[in-house]
Amino acid sequence: MIFASGTSMRIIGSLILFGLAMVVAPDTGAAGSSGPKQSHAEQGKELYRAKGCVACHSTDGVRRAGPSLLGVFGRVVEMQDGSKITVDENYFRQSLMEPQAKIVKGFSPSMPGYKGRLTDDEVKDLIVYLKSLKGKAK
Ligand code: HEC
Repeated sequence: MIFASGTSMRIIGSLILFGLAMVVAPDTGAAGSSGPKQSHAEQGKELYRAKGCVACHSTDGVRRAGPSLLGVFGRVVEMQDGSKITVDENYFRQSLMEPQAKIVKGFSPSMPGYKGRLTDDEVKDLIVYLKSLKGKAK
């Protein structure tokens, strides 16, 4: 009895939240898409999510399918062939456009290429965003 009423309370609660979301969402959507006021870092953050980077790369130092991108710029990375690279904007760009060209040691070459899926400006926004994370412990 108690369990049943708890369950129906939750269902009613969900329905109310859903209804609220339906009412509120169109407004926030419109506000969110009036983009020009967004900073490059904010746009980069948005891209990081929208383009799926977040699925494979954390921004808090935790290893996922790919290395964490917290503080990635300036990091010295060992490649599969034993060579070492200091991450800069050129290497970053190449990592996105031709991910198979250089594979980080200890990771599988599973990153999709972003050629044609990210403009140069979008790559720059991603760079600004990732640089803004540097040193932040989250
Ligand atoms: C399906 C998983 C996946 C997705 C999605 C993905 N990556 Fe990767 N990424 C990897 C893996 C695995 C590696 C390591 C192997 C390699 O070097 O390709 C990597 C490597 C990198 C590197 C080199 C890192 C280093 O330490 O040298 C950068 C930079 C990078 N990814 C950025 C991105 C960005 C930005 C996005 C989104 C636009 C993205 N990746 C999307 C899996 C992914």
